[in-house]
Amino acid sequence: MLRLERVGLSYGRGAEVLKDVDFELQRGSFCFLTGASGAGKSSLLKLAFMALHPSRGRIKLFDQDITRVSRRQLPFLRRRIGVVFQDFRLLDHLTTFENVALPLRVAGKLPRNYERDVRDLLDWVGLAKQADSYPPVLSGGEQQRAAIARAVISKPELLLADEPTGNVDPILARRLIRLFAELNKLGTTVLLATHDMNLLKHVRAPVLHLENGALQQRH
Ligand SMILES: Nc1ncnc2c1ncn2[C@@H]1O[C@H](COP(=O)(O)OP(=O)(O)OP(=O)(O)O)[C@@H](O)[C@H]1O
Ligand SMILES: [Mg+2]
Repeated sequence: MLRLERVGLSYGRGAEVLKDVDFELQRGSFCFLTGASGAGKSSLLKLAFMALHPSRGRIKLFDQDITRVSRRQLPFLRRRIGVVFQDFRLLDHLTTFENVALPLRVAGKLPRNYERDVRDLLDWVGLAKQADSYPPVLSGGEQQRAAIARAVISKPELLLADEPTGNVDPILARRLIRLFAELNKLGTTVLLATHDMNLLKHVRAPVLHLENGALQQRH
């Protein structure tokens, strides 16, 4: 599904944030990505989402070398990925409902065919009442749940979730982790970055740990 080969990343002329990172995420797997603040978790997820280009090495996604893929192909590849950014990146001029429905609209689906699914998911993440509100008036945790709903609504092949429970209480965090696990059972490959070690208790999954720019696998 996703494979990094001797990947190095540095920002500008700075020292390398990631050094010789090698790993493979098997199709259908669930994996945690841990590491202290600043270890490079978000950077690694951005590489996988093709929002950053590695300074060296090779990245294969869906059997394609994304370090060589043309700009024109990027949107098509990205459509197969659900992503929860650490800073949410909701569109402020769209309602919560419209934000969550966006991947379906972009895929050419008709509102009457997805309205029900979007409402059900909003209900599940506890945002039924906020469906018609705009992101700026939502709390941090509500924005985070909207971002999660948007990332999972189209049951993507790959889900990249960056600290997806960082702004919610522990009970809600458990509920969201269950949502990711269920999605994983339906076939979505999940890579979830977190520095919350409590989350790791709720799903039995391998842990990839980033430290000093290197990635180690822990079970
Ligand atoms: N756009 C950027 N320009 C320069 N340096 C950056 C940039 N983005 C990240 N960095 C640096 O790269 C390193 C890794 O950052 P990254 O955001 O990937 O860490 P993280 O593990 O996600 O941290 P956190 O747990 O705080 O979210 C940090 O030292 C950070 O300062
Ligand atoms: Mg981060």
